[in-house]
Formats: sequence, structure tokens, C-alpha cells
Amino acid sequence: MNIILIGYMGSGKSSLGCGLAKRLKWKFVDTDKAIEQQQGQSILDIFETKGEEHFRELERAYIQSIDSESNQIIAVGGGMPCFFDNMEQLNLKGTTIYLHRPPGELVYRLQHSKNPRPLVVGKSTEELNLFVHEALTYREQFYKRAHYQVSRKIGSATRLHDFLVQEQIILPNDPLHRPQSEQELG
Ligand code: S3P
Repeated sequence: MNIILIGYMGSGKSSLGCGLAKRLKWKFVDTDKAIEQQQGQSILDIFETKGEEHFRELERAYIQSIDSESNQIIAVGGGMPCFFDNMEQLNLKGTTIYLHRPPGELVYRLQHSKNPRPLVVGKSTEELNLFVHEALTYREQFYKRAHYQVSRKIGSATRLHDFLVQEQIILPNDPLHRPQSEQELG
């Protein structure tokens, strides 16, 4: 069973996902990094030389390559759930969790991030504010189709781990196995 973290750019999918994977001793995958490795190009370069549409095709192909039976924590690019039928496909590939963050916090985090994002690079604070508010309004219809939604209170790997145990998505001491009830249901 995979755990798939979705949410807007800057919502903390990668750092939370990486921390969670360490705790569970599962593999961690960041889809942006995986696509960069596959293509031998940064996301910024892919956008610049081949365009966003091509990048979205690469994301779609990546989802198809995910083995739903593996035990991975997967942090997906912020736009991935919002194109094609990707959100439905992600829901079939694992347990999806939407990391909800208020737009103001996302703007702050994006402004202080070292990771350059092609969609927001070079924007002023005012432009970024408008862009994030508008994008989030549109994208939430997709993000909200995730199996679970967690608020900013779940802001650390420890808390996310506790949440997963509480919701019986994983067992406290036996992370590679699903809860009994779920195994019985198949
Ligand atoms: C994007 C988010 C980025 C990356 C690309 C496009 C988006 O990933 O896939 O720059 O459309 O929201 P992160 O959410 O990891 O920043």
C-alpha cells in the first residue's frame, strides 16, 4: 500500500513525506525528482524547453508506472492531481492525503523556498498572492477528492504518523501491514 501526499506547491509534501518514510522505513519518492532523473533535466528546464503540456504528460505517465502494491511514500507535484483523470488514478494507486495549508502560508513558504518553481518564478508578492489564491480555488476541487485531508496542525512527520495510526491506515508497530479489517476486506 502506498501513501500519496498531495497539495499545493510549498505545502510541505516532500519534507513531511521524507520524514515519514524514515520513520516507517519505507521508500520515499518525490515525483518531481523522479521525473528530473528520468529526463536528465530539471523541472525548470522541462517547462522552458518542452512546455508545461509535455511535463503534464510526463506526470501522467509517471502515475501509470506506480506499482499499487509497493510500500512507498510518494510526494506528488502540486499540479499532478489537477490534470486528466490523475486524481482518480492516484486514488487507485494508494491512500491519498491532502495537506491543506492556508493560501497566505503557502505564499510565505514559496517566497522562502530554495526550490525554484517555473509557475511562480519572478512573481512579486502581490502577483504571487493573487496567483496562489486563484490557483488554489481552482485546484481544491481535485485535492478534496483525496481519501483524507489534514490541516496545518499535522505539520510534522511525527504528527502525520500519529494521524495514520489513528485512522488505521497503518498499524503502530507493524507499518508494512494493513489493519486486519482492511486485509479481510481485501
Ligand atoms: C507544480 C508544482 C511543482 C512542480 C512543477 C509544477 C504545480 O511541484 O511539479 O513546478 O503545477 O503546482 P511541488 O508541488 O513539489 O512544488
